[in-house]
Amino acid sequence: MATITITDNRDGKQYEFDILSPTVGPDVIDIRSLYQKTGMFTYDPGFTSTASCSSSITYIDGEKGELRYRGYDISDLATKRTYLDTCYLLLMDKLPSKTELAAFDMEIRKRSFVHEGLKNLFYAFPDSAHPMAMMSSAVSALSAFHYEHLDIKEEEEFQIMARRILAKIPTLAALSYRRSLGIPFIYPDIERSFTENFLYMMRAYPSAETLIRDVEIKALDTIFTLHAEHEQNASTSTVRGVASTGAHPYAAISAGINALWGRAHGGANESVIAQLEMIGTVDKVDEFIKKAKDPDDDFRLMGFGHRVYKNFDPRAKILKQLLDELKEDLGVDSELLEVAMRIEEVALTDEYFIKRKLYPNIDFYSGLILTALKIPKSLFTIIFVIGRSVGWITQWIELRHDKEMKIARPRQRYTGPVSKKI
Ligand code: SDX
Repeated sequence: MATITITDNRDGKQYEFDILSPTVGPDVIDIRSLYQKTGMFTYDPGFTSTASCSSSITYIDGEKGELRYRGYDISDLATKRTYLDTCYLLLMDKLPSKTELAAFDMEIRKRSFVHEGLKNLFYAFPDSAHPMAMMSSAVSALSAFHYEHLDIKEEEEFQIMARRILAKIPTLAALSYRRSLGIPFIYPDIERSFTENFLYMMRAYPSAETLIRDVEIKALDTIFTLHAEHEQNASTSTVRGVASTGAHPYAAISAGINALWGRAHGGANESVIAQLEMIGTVDKVDEFIKKAKDPDDDFRLMGFGHRVYKNFDPRAKILKQLLDELKEDLGVDSELLEVAMRIEEVALTDEYFIKRKLYPNIDFYSGLILTALKIPKSLFTIIFVIGRSVGWITQWIELRHDKEMKIARPRQRYTGPVSKKI
Protein backbone atom coordinates (compact mmCIF):
# COMPACT_ATOMS: atom_id res chain seq x y z
CA MET A 1 0.00 0.00 0.00
CA ALA A 2 1.45 3.42 -0.97
CA THR A 3 1.72 5.84 1.92
CA ILE A 4 2.50 9.51 2.56
CA THR A 5 4.28 10.86 5.63
CA ILE A 6 3.72 14.30 7.10
CA THR A 7 6.12 15.89 9.56
CA ASP A 8 5.07 18.32 12.25
CA ASN A 9 8.00 20.75 12.25
CA ARG A 10 7.10 21.95 15.75
CA ASP A 11 8.26 18.69 17.33
CA GLY A 12 9.57 16.65 14.36
CA LYS A 13 6.88 13.99 14.84
CA GLN A 14 5.98 12.09 11.65
CA TYR A 15 2.62 10.63 10.72
CA GLU A 16 1.99 8.13 7.93
CA PHE A 17 -1.24 7.83 5.94
CA ASP A 18 -2.31 5.42 3.20
CA ILE A 19 -2.73 6.61 -0.39
CA LEU A 20 -5.80 5.12 -2.06
CA SER A 21 -5.98 4.94 -5.85
CA PRO A 22 -9.15 5.48 -7.96
CA THR A 23 -9.83 3.72 -11.27
CA VAL A 24 -8.98 7.07 -12.91
CA GLY A 25 -8.21 10.57 -11.60
CA PRO A 26 -6.29 11.88 -8.57
CA ASP A 27 -5.13 9.56 -5.79
CA VAL A 28 -6.56 10.29 -2.33
CA ILE A 29 -4.87 10.45 1.06
CA ASP A 30 -6.87 8.42 3.57
CA ILE A 31 -6.99 10.82 6.52
CA ARG A 32 -9.69 9.04 8.49
CA SER A 33 -7.18 8.37 11.29
CA LEU A 34 -5.70 11.90 11.21
CA TYR A 35 -7.41 13.27 14.33
CA GLN A 36 -6.83 10.10 16.32
CA LYS A 37 -3.09 10.07 15.32
CA THR A 38 -2.35 13.82 15.41
CA GLY A 39 -5.12 15.49 17.41
CA MET A 40 -5.53 17.82 14.42
CA PHE A 41 -8.24 18.36 11.78
CA THR A 42 -7.75 19.18 8.11
CA TYR A 43 -8.96 22.64 7.10
CA ASP A 44 -10.70 22.94 3.72
CA PRO A 45 -13.56 25.50 3.50
CA GLY A 46 -15.76 24.61 0.54
CA PHE A 47 -14.06 21.20 0.31
CA THR A 48 -11.81 22.31 -2.58
CA SER A 49 -9.38 19.40 -1.96
CA THR A 50 -11.60 16.91 -0.17
CA ALA A 51 -13.11 13.66 -1.47
CA SER A 52 -16.27 13.02 0.56
CA CYS A 53 -16.90 9.48 -0.66
CA SER A 54 -16.03 6.76 -3.15
CA SER A 55 -18.36 6.71 -6.14
CA SER A 56 -18.62 4.83 -9.45
CA ILE A 57 -21.33 6.98 -11.03
CA THR A 58 -19.69 10.00 -12.69
CA TYR A 59 -16.13 10.95 -13.57
CA ILE A 60 -15.04 14.52 -14.32
CA ASP A 61 -11.59 15.52 -15.56
CA GLY A 62 -11.59 19.26 -14.85
CA GLU A 63 -8.27 19.90 -16.57
CA LYS A 64 -9.22 18.11 -19.81
CA GLY A 65 -12.88 19.17 -19.68
CA GLU A 66 -14.19 15.61 -19.73
CA LEU A 67 -17.40 14.22 -18.20
CA ARG A 68 -18.51 10.55 -18.16
CA TYR A 69 -21.63 8.92 -16.73
CA ARG A 70 -20.88 5.28 -15.78
CA GLY A 71 -17.88 5.50 -18.14
CA TYR A 72 -19.80 6.82 -21.17
CA ASP A 73 -18.70 10.18 -22.58
CA ILE A 74 -21.32 12.91 -22.14
CA SER A 75 -21.18 13.90 -25.79
CA ASP A 76 -22.04 10.34 -26.91
CA LEU A 77 -24.98 10.19 -24.51
CA ALA A 78 -26.23 13.69 -25.41
CA THR A 79 -26.05 13.11 -29.16
CA LYS A 80 -26.78 9.37 -29.56
CA ARG A 81 -29.15 8.53 -26.71
CA THR A 82 -32.20 10.00 -24.99
CA TYR A 83 -32.49 11.32 -21.46
CA LEU A 84 -34.40 8.19 -20.42
CA ASP A 85 -31.54 6.03 -21.75
CA THR A 86 -29.25 8.06 -19.48
CA CYS A 87 -31.60 7.67 -16.50
CA TYR A 88 -31.61 3.89 -16.99
CA LEU A 89 -27.81 3.90 -17.36
CA LEU A 90 -27.31 5.88 -14.15
CA LEU A 91 -29.83 3.86 -12.11
CA MET A 92 -29.03 0.38 -13.47
CA ASP A 93 -25.33 0.89 -14.37
CA LYS A 94 -25.95 -0.31 -17.94
CA LEU A 95 -27.43 1.14 -21.12
CA PRO A 96 -30.89 -0.35 -21.74
CA SER A 97 -31.73 -2.71 -24.59
CA LYS A 98 -34.69 -1.64 -26.75
CA THR A 99 -36.99 -3.89 -24.70
CA GLU A 100 -35.61 -2.65 -21.37
CA LEU A 101 -36.00 0.97 -22.49
CA ALA A 102 -39.58 0.40 -23.65
CA ALA A 103 -40.53 -1.14 -20.28
CA PHE A 104 -38.73 1.61 -18.33
CA ASP A 105 -40.35 4.30 -20.47
CA MET A 106 -43.84 2.90 -19.91
CA GLU A 107 -43.24 2.58 -16.16
CA ILE A 108 -42.17 6.23 -15.98
CA ARG A 109 -45.20 7.34 -18.01
CA LYS A 110 -47.59 5.45 -15.72
CA ARG A 111 -45.93 6.84 -12.58
CA SER A 112 -46.08 10.43 -13.83
CA PHE A 113 -49.46 11.09 -12.17
CA VAL A 114 -49.53 12.64 -8.70
CA HIS A 115 -52.09 12.14 -5.95
CA GLU A 116 -55.03 14.49 -6.43
CA GLY A 117 -54.57 15.68 -2.85
CA LEU A 118 -51.09 16.93 -3.63
CA LYS A 119 -52.52 19.55 -6.00
CA ASN A 120 -54.11 21.36 -3.06
CA LEU A 121 -50.61 22.23 -1.87
CA PHE A 122 -50.10 24.41 -4.95
CA TYR A 123 -53.20 26.45 -4.17
CA ALA A 124 -51.71 27.35 -0.80
CA PHE A 125 -49.04 29.42 -2.58
CA PRO A 126 -49.48 33.06 -3.62
CA ASP A 127 -49.43 33.81 -7.38
CA SER A 128 -46.00 35.43 -6.91
CA ALA A 129 -44.47 32.21 -5.50
CA HIS A 130 -41.24 31.19 -7.29
CA PRO A 131 -41.71 27.74 -8.91
CA MET A 132 -38.63 26.49 -7.02
CA ALA A 133 -40.34 27.23 -3.69
CA MET A 134 -43.35 25.20 -4.80
CA MET A 135 -41.20 22.43 -6.23
CA SER A 136 -39.08 21.82 -3.13
CA SER A 137 -42.23 21.83 -0.95
CA ALA A 138 -44.08 19.48 -3.30
CA VAL A 139 -41.23 16.95 -3.44
CA SER A 140 -41.02 16.96 0.36
CA ALA A 141 -44.81 16.58 0.51
CA LEU A 142 -44.57 13.43 -1.66
CA SER A 143 -43.42 11.70 1.53
CA ALA A 144 -46.89 12.26 2.99
CA PHE A 145 -48.45 10.43 0.05
CA HIS A 146 -45.87 7.66 -0.20
CA TYR A 147 -45.15 6.92 3.45
CA GLU A 148 -44.20 3.33 2.54
CA HIS A 149 -41.00 4.89 1.18
CA LEU A 150 -39.98 6.49 4.43
CA ASP A 151 -37.87 3.55 5.56
CA ILE A 152 -36.64 1.56 2.58
CA LYS A 153 -33.72 -0.86 2.68
CA GLU A 154 -33.93 -3.13 -0.35
CA GLU A 155 -32.61 -2.36 -3.87
CA GLU A 156 -36.02 -3.22 -5.33
CA GLU A 157 -37.65 -0.55 -3.13
CA PHE A 158 -34.88 1.89 -4.05
CA GLN A 159 -35.68 1.39 -7.74
CA ILE A 160 -39.43 1.86 -7.25
CA MET A 161 -38.75 5.08 -5.30
CA ALA A 162 -36.32 6.20 -8.00
CA ARG A 163 -38.81 5.70 -10.82
CA ARG A 164 -41.58 7.30 -8.80
CA ILE A 165 -39.60 10.51 -8.10
CA LEU A 166 -38.13 10.63 -11.62
CA ALA A 167 -41.61 10.33 -13.13
CA LYS A 168 -43.39 12.78 -10.83
CA ILE A 169 -40.91 15.66 -10.80
CA PRO A 170 -41.81 16.87 -14.34
CA THR A 171 -45.51 16.77 -13.39
CA LEU A 172 -44.81 18.76 -10.22
CA ALA A 173 -42.70 21.17 -12.28
CA ALA A 174 -45.55 21.74 -14.71
CA LEU A 175 -47.98 22.16 -11.79
CA SER A 176 -45.62 24.79 -10.29
CA TYR A 177 -45.51 26.62 -13.61
CA ARG A 178 -49.26 26.55 -14.23
CA ARG A 179 -49.99 27.59 -10.62
CA SER A 180 -47.67 30.60 -11.03
CA LEU A 181 -49.79 31.65 -14.03
CA GLY A 182 -53.10 30.77 -12.39
CA ILE A 183 -54.07 28.51 -15.31
CA PRO A 184 -55.74 25.09 -15.09
CA PHE A 185 -53.55 22.06 -14.33
CA ILE A 186 -53.02 19.55 -17.12
CA TYR A 187 -52.74 15.80 -16.52
CA PRO A 188 -49.79 13.86 -17.96
CA ASP A 189 -50.48 12.20 -21.32
CA ILE A 190 -49.01 8.67 -21.32
CA GLU A 191 -49.09 8.63 -25.14
CA ARG A 192 -46.22 11.12 -25.08
CA SER A 193 -42.52 10.55 -24.33
CA PHE A 194 -40.94 11.89 -21.13
CA THR A 195 -39.72 15.20 -22.58
CA GLU A 196 -42.65 15.73 -24.93
CA ASN A 197 -45.03 15.10 -22.03
CA PHE A 198 -43.35 17.82 -19.97
CA LEU A 199 -43.69 20.35 -22.78
CA TYR A 200 -47.30 19.22 -23.22
CA MET A 201 -48.10 19.70 -19.51
CA MET A 202 -46.50 23.15 -19.74
CA ARG A 203 -48.26 24.31 -22.88
CA ALA A 204 -51.58 22.50 -23.21
CA TYR A 205 -54.87 24.36 -22.86
CA PRO A 206 -58.10 22.48 -22.36
CA SER A 207 -59.85 21.79 -25.71
CA ALA A 208 -57.06 23.36 -27.79
CA GLU A 209 -54.46 21.51 -29.89
CA THR A 210 -50.94 21.65 -28.45
CA LEU A 211 -48.10 22.29 -30.90
CA ILE A 212 -44.81 20.63 -29.91
CA ARG A 213 -42.11 20.27 -32.55
CA ASP A 214 -39.57 17.42 -32.66
CA VAL A 215 -36.72 19.95 -32.71
CA GLU A 216 -37.96 21.33 -29.38
CA ILE A 217 -38.24 17.87 -27.82
CA LYS A 218 -34.70 16.99 -28.96
CA ALA A 219 -33.25 20.27 -27.62
CA LEU A 220 -34.88 19.92 -24.21
CA ASP A 221 -34.06 16.21 -23.99
CA THR A 222 -30.41 17.06 -24.61
CA ILE A 223 -30.54 19.69 -21.86
CA PHE A 224 -31.97 17.11 -19.44
CA THR A 225 -29.17 14.65 -20.31
CA LEU A 226 -26.46 17.30 -19.84
CA HIS A 227 -27.85 18.18 -16.40
CA ALA A 228 -28.43 14.59 -15.23
CA GLU A 229 -25.40 14.05 -13.00
CA HIS A 230 -22.22 15.79 -11.92
CA GLU A 231 -20.53 13.85 -9.05
CA GLN A 232 -20.27 15.66 -5.68
CA ASN A 233 -21.50 19.18 -6.57
CA ALA A 234 -23.12 21.31 -3.87
CA SER A 235 -26.69 20.02 -4.29
CA THR A 236 -25.62 16.37 -4.59
CA SER A 237 -23.46 16.76 -1.49
CA THR A 238 -26.53 18.17 0.23
CA VAL A 239 -28.58 15.15 -0.86
CA ARG A 240 -25.86 12.83 0.46
CA GLY A 241 -25.60 14.78 3.70
CA VAL A 242 -29.33 14.44 4.34
CA ALA A 243 -29.30 10.79 3.22
CA SER A 244 -26.41 10.04 5.60
CA THR A 245 -28.71 10.77 8.57
CA GLY A 246 -31.08 8.03 7.38
CA ALA A 247 -33.67 10.57 6.19
CA HIS A 248 -36.01 9.38 3.44
CA PRO A 249 -35.30 10.18 -0.23
CA TYR A 250 -38.01 12.86 -0.56
CA ALA A 251 -36.39 14.88 2.24
CA ALA A 252 -32.97 14.48 0.62
CA ILE A 253 -34.13 15.43 -2.89
CA SER A 254 -36.10 18.41 -1.55
CA ALA A 255 -32.94 19.59 0.25
CA GLY A 256 -31.01 19.14 -3.01
CA ILE A 257 -33.55 21.30 -4.85
CA ASN A 258 -33.09 24.06 -2.32
CA ALA A 259 -29.30 23.85 -2.54
CA LEU A 260 -29.50 24.00 -6.36
CA TRP A 261 -31.54 27.21 -6.18
CA GLY A 262 -28.50 29.27 -5.19
CA ARG A 263 -27.24 31.59 -7.98
CA ALA A 264 -23.69 30.24 -7.57
CA HIS A 265 -25.08 26.81 -8.50
CA GLY A 266 -28.20 25.87 -10.44
CA GLY A 267 -29.74 29.31 -10.09
CA ALA A 268 -27.01 30.62 -12.40
CA ASN A 269 -28.94 29.76 -15.57
CA GLU A 270 -31.71 32.18 -14.64
CA SER A 271 -29.08 34.81 -13.71
CA VAL A 272 -27.23 34.37 -17.00
CA ILE A 273 -30.25 35.41 -19.06
CA ALA A 274 -31.06 38.24 -16.64
CA GLN A 275 -27.47 39.40 -17.04
CA LEU A 276 -27.51 39.15 -20.85
CA GLU A 277 -30.75 41.14 -20.89
CA MET A 278 -29.25 43.72 -18.52
CA ILE A 279 -26.12 44.09 -20.70
CA GLY A 280 -28.49 44.31 -23.66
CA THR A 281 -26.11 45.08 -26.50
CA VAL A 282 -22.65 44.00 -27.61
CA ASP A 283 -21.19 47.49 -27.09
CA LYS A 284 -21.95 47.27 -23.33
CA VAL A 285 -20.04 44.01 -22.82
CA ASP A 286 -16.65 45.57 -22.05
CA GLU A 287 -18.16 47.65 -19.24
CA PHE A 288 -19.52 44.53 -17.53
CA ILE A 289 -16.34 42.53 -18.06
CA LYS A 290 -14.57 45.36 -16.21
CA LYS A 291 -17.06 45.07 -13.33
CA ALA A 292 -16.56 41.29 -13.20
CA LYS A 293 -12.80 41.80 -12.85
CA ASP A 294 -13.07 44.50 -10.19
CA PRO A 295 -12.17 42.95 -6.80
CA ASP A 296 -14.23 45.64 -5.06
CA ASP A 297 -17.33 44.85 -7.12
CA ASP A 298 -19.25 41.68 -6.21
CA PHE A 299 -20.58 41.49 -9.79
CA ARG A 300 -19.70 38.14 -11.34
CA LEU A 301 -20.08 36.95 -14.90
CA MET A 302 -22.84 34.40 -14.44
CA GLY A 303 -22.29 31.19 -16.38
CA PHE A 304 -18.52 31.57 -16.08
CA GLY A 305 -16.13 29.62 -13.87
CA HIS A 306 -16.39 26.27 -12.20
CA ARG A 307 -14.94 24.58 -9.15
CA VAL A 308 -13.82 21.57 -11.15
CA TYR A 309 -13.61 22.56 -14.82
CA LYS A 310 -10.43 24.56 -15.40
CA ASN A 311 -11.07 24.14 -19.10
CA PHE A 312 -14.24 24.40 -21.19
CA ASP A 313 -17.20 22.69 -19.48
CA PRO A 314 -17.90 19.90 -22.03
CA ARG A 315 -21.62 20.48 -21.52
CA ALA A 316 -21.24 24.14 -22.51
CA LYS A 317 -19.49 23.00 -25.69
CA ILE A 318 -22.36 20.66 -26.57
CA LEU A 319 -24.96 23.35 -25.84
CA LYS A 320 -23.06 25.89 -27.94
CA GLN A 321 -23.02 23.42 -30.84
CA LEU A 322 -26.73 22.69 -30.34
CA LEU A 323 -27.43 26.42 -30.41
CA ASP A 324 -25.52 26.78 -33.68
CA GLU A 325 -27.51 23.89 -35.18
CA LEU A 326 -30.91 24.95 -33.93
CA LYS A 327 -30.82 28.74 -33.65
CA GLU A 328 -32.81 29.21 -36.89
CA ASP A 329 -35.25 26.37 -36.13
CA LEU A 330 -35.77 27.41 -32.53
CA GLY A 331 -35.73 31.14 -33.16
CA VAL A 332 -32.99 31.81 -30.62
CA ASP A 333 -32.84 35.51 -29.67
CA SER A 334 -29.99 36.60 -31.90
CA GLU A 335 -29.22 39.77 -29.91
CA LEU A 336 -28.87 37.82 -26.63
CA LEU A 337 -26.79 35.22 -28.46
CA GLU A 338 -24.56 37.94 -29.90
CA VAL A 339 -24.00 39.41 -26.42
CA ALA A 340 -23.20 35.93 -25.06
CA MET A 341 -20.74 35.22 -27.87
CA ARG A 342 -19.06 38.62 -27.36
CA ILE A 343 -18.72 37.96 -23.60
CA GLU A 344 -17.18 34.58 -24.34
CA GLU A 345 -14.82 36.08 -26.94
CA VAL A 346 -13.62 38.86 -24.62
CA ALA A 347 -13.41 36.73 -21.48
CA LEU A 348 -11.47 33.93 -23.17
CA THR A 349 -8.73 36.36 -24.23
CA ASP A 350 -8.63 38.41 -21.02
CA GLU A 351 -5.75 37.78 -18.60
CA TYR A 352 -8.05 37.93 -15.55
CA PHE A 353 -10.16 34.99 -16.79
CA ILE A 354 -7.26 33.09 -18.32
CA LYS A 355 -5.19 33.28 -15.12
CA ARG A 356 -8.14 32.02 -13.05
CA LYS A 357 -9.09 29.43 -15.68
CA LEU A 358 -12.62 30.78 -15.93
CA TYR A 359 -14.51 29.27 -18.86
CA PRO A 360 -18.19 29.18 -19.82
CA ASN A 361 -20.04 26.52 -17.83
CA ILE A 362 -23.26 24.66 -18.54
CA ASP A 363 -25.40 27.59 -17.43
CA PHE A 364 -23.88 30.02 -19.91
CA TYR A 365 -25.78 28.67 -22.91
CA SER A 366 -28.67 26.63 -21.52
CA GLY A 367 -30.81 29.70 -20.85
CA LEU A 368 -30.70 30.76 -24.52
CA ILE A 369 -32.19 27.44 -25.62
CA LEU A 370 -34.75 27.47 -22.83
CA THR A 371 -35.77 31.02 -23.78
CA ALA A 372 -36.23 29.85 -27.38
CA LEU A 373 -38.43 27.03 -26.06
CA LYS A 374 -40.60 29.77 -24.50
CA ILE A 375 -39.75 28.52 -21.02
CA PRO A 376 -39.79 31.51 -18.64
CA LYS A 377 -36.60 32.40 -16.69
CA SER A 378 -38.32 31.58 -13.41
CA LEU A 379 -38.51 27.95 -14.58
CA PHE A 380 -34.89 27.57 -15.70
CA THR A 381 -33.66 26.10 -12.44
CA ILE A 382 -36.71 23.81 -12.39
CA ILE A 383 -35.48 22.44 -15.72
CA PHE A 384 -32.14 21.80 -13.99
CA VAL A 385 -34.07 19.99 -11.20
CA ILE A 386 -35.84 17.73 -13.72
CA GLY A 387 -32.54 16.78 -15.35
CA ARG A 388 -30.60 16.36 -12.10
CA SER A 389 -33.27 14.41 -10.19
CA VAL A 390 -31.93 11.12 -11.57
CA GLY A 391 -28.39 12.03 -10.46
CA TRP A 392 -29.50 12.88 -6.94
CA ILE A 393 -31.51 9.66 -6.64
CA THR A 394 -28.65 7.54 -8.04
CA GLN A 395 -26.24 9.09 -5.53
CA TRP A 396 -28.77 8.55 -2.72
CA ILE A 397 -28.97 4.83 -3.64
CA GLU A 398 -25.17 4.51 -3.90
CA LEU A 399 -24.76 6.06 -0.47
CA ARG A 400 -27.27 3.63 1.02
CA HIS A 401 -25.19 0.72 -0.33
CA ASP A 402 -21.88 2.27 0.79
CA LYS A 403 -20.40 0.27 3.69
CA GLU A 404 -17.92 3.10 4.40
CA MET A 405 -20.61 5.75 4.74
CA LYS A 406 -21.13 7.44 8.08
CA ILE A 407 -23.32 10.36 9.06
CA ALA A 408 -21.91 13.54 7.49
CA ARG A 409 -20.54 15.48 10.44
CA PRO A 410 -17.50 17.65 9.63
CA ARG A 411 -15.55 19.44 12.40
CA GLN A 412 -14.39 23.08 12.46
CA ARG A 413 -11.58 25.47 13.31
CA TYR A 414 -13.04 27.29 16.32
CA THR A 415 -12.26 31.01 16.45
CA GLY A 416 -14.72 32.12 19.09
CA PRO A 417 -14.17 33.12 22.77
CA VAL A 418 -12.45 30.45 24.88
CA SER A 419 -14.67 30.78 27.95
CA LYS A 420 -16.79 33.51 29.47
CA LYS A 421 -18.42 33.73 32.90
CA ILE A 422 -22.00 35.00 33.37
C1 SDX B 1 -23.06 24.76 -11.59
O1 SDX B 1 -20.05 21.86 -8.98
C2 SDX B 1 -20.75 21.56 -10.01
O2 SDX B 1 -20.53 20.52 -10.64
C3 SDX B 1 -21.86 22.52 -10.37
C4 SDX B 1 -22.55 22.30 -11.69
C5 SDX B 1 -23.34 21.01 -11.69
O3 SDX B 1 -23.57 20.48 -12.79
O4 SDX B 1 -23.82 20.60 -10.60
O5 SDX B 1 -21.60 22.26 -12.72
C6 SDX B 1 -23.55 23.42 -11.98
O6 SDX B 1 -23.31 25.18 -10.50
C7 SDX B 1 -22.19 25.53 -12.55
C8 SDX B 1 -21.70 26.88 -11.95
C9 SDX B 1 -22.82 27.91 -12.11
N1 SDX B 1 -22.44 29.17 -11.37
C10 SDX B 1 -22.14 30.28 -12.02
O7 SDX B 1 -22.02 30.37 -13.24
C11 SDX B 1 -21.94 31.49 -11.10
C12 SDX B 1 -20.66 32.25 -11.49
N2 SDX B 1 -19.47 31.45 -11.16
C13 SDX B 1 -18.90 31.61 -9.86
O8 SDX B 1 -19.65 32.07 -8.84
C14 SDX B 1 -17.80 30.61 -9.53
O9 SDX B 1 -17.03 30.47 -10.65
C15 SDX B 1 -18.23 29.23 -9.04
C16 SDX B 1 -19.12 29.32 -7.85
C17 SDX B 1 -18.91 28.48 -10.12
C18 SDX B 1 -16.96 28.49 -8.63
O10 SDX B 1 -16.43 29.16 -7.55
P1 SDX B 1 -15.07 28.65 -6.83
O11 SDX B 1 -14.56 27.42 -7.45
O12 SDX B 1 -15.31 28.65 -5.36
O13 SDX B 1 -14.04 29.76 -7.25
P2 SDX B 1 -13.81 31.12 -6.47
O14 SDX B 1 -15.14 31.72 -6.13
O15 SDX B 1 -12.84 30.87 -5.38
O16 SDX B 1 -13.17 32.02 -7.62
C19 SDX B 1 -11.76 31.92 -7.91
C20 SDX B 1 -11.40 33.31 -8.48
C21 SDX B 1 -11.82 34.47 -7.58
O17 SDX B 1 -10.98 35.55 -7.88
P3 SDX B 1 -9.69 35.85 -6.87
O18 SDX B 1 -10.26 35.91 -5.46
O19 SDX B 1 -8.76 34.67 -7.07
O20 SDX B 1 -9.14 37.15 -7.35
O21 SDX B 1 -12.10 33.50 -9.72
C22 SDX B 1 -12.99 34.61 -9.59
C23 SDX B 1 -13.18 34.84 -8.10
O22 SDX B 1 -13.50 36.20 -7.85
N3 SDX B 1 -14.24 34.22 -10.24
C24 SDX B 1 -14.97 35.03 -11.01
C25 SDX B 1 -16.03 34.23 -11.46
N4 SDX B 1 -15.93 33.01 -10.94
C26 SDX B 1 -14.82 33.01 -10.18
N5 SDX B 1 -14.82 36.33 -11.37
C27 SDX B 1 -15.78 36.84 -12.18
N6 SDX B 1 -16.85 36.13 -12.65
C28 SDX B 1 -17.00 34.84 -12.30
N7 SDX B 1 -18.03 34.15 -12.75
